[in-house]
Amino acid sequence: MNLVEKMVLEQGIALSNDVLKVDAFLNQQIQLSFMKEVGRLFADYFKDKVITKILTIESSGIAPAYATALQLDVPVVIAKKKTCLTSSSNTYQSKVYSFTKQYTYNMSVDQDFLSPTDRILIIDDFLANGQAALGAIDICDQAQVNVIGFGAVIEKSFQKGRQLLDEMDIDVYSLARVQSLENQQIQLL
Ligand code: G4P
Repeated sequence: MNLVEKMVLEQGIALSNDVLKVDAFLNQQIQLSFMKEVGRLFADYFKDKVITKILTIESSGIAPAYATALQLDVPVVIAKKKTCLTSSSNTYQSKVYSFTKQYTYNMSVDQDFLSPTDRILIIDDFLANGQAALGAIDICDQAQVNVIGFGAVIEKSFQKGRQLLDEMDIDVYSLARVQSLENQQIQLL
């Protein structure tokens, strides 16, 4: 059992049959030794794949992406969910519907930060229904960059994200795979 699986079992809380609360180490409080190990595990898996950049989605994807980028010594590009005063007018954009949060947002990345020679690893905190992953892949397609893989700290294997990415032949690596949250019991694969 790796450290992520251990933390999920020991500190995760099944809020319902669908939602796992991991605020204690991933979504609100970030434990550094934990995040360092997350980076090491992702880097170890993807180290021979010649990654040039990591793409993540704000906000909870940033910490695991950064921890992995430190190990692989590559930059991190953060896909934004909102525009602000300094936002570029030249962006790749993709509309993403969040089933968990029941809203649609516009994911965007400045065109300057992705170039056709890039080999991208996408990292996020959760792989649930896969909509954020599909948005990030769509942005990579627009930028004509290669998506080398997708890393999720936690995958909810009972939702359809994993299957969607498998069908697209994306190399998915999840550090903990949750099979079920039924009856407030966290079951891993
Ligand atoms: P998807 O991206 O796989 O389709 O998932 P979905 O739309 O269902 O989830 C959207 C948001 O909810 C994401 O965060 C995702 O990380 C988070 N999420 C999904 N399932 C769970 C869960 O069981 N537990 C927790 N803690 N989060 C979950 P987000 O909106 O991007 O938020 P944030 O990154 O700003 O924190």
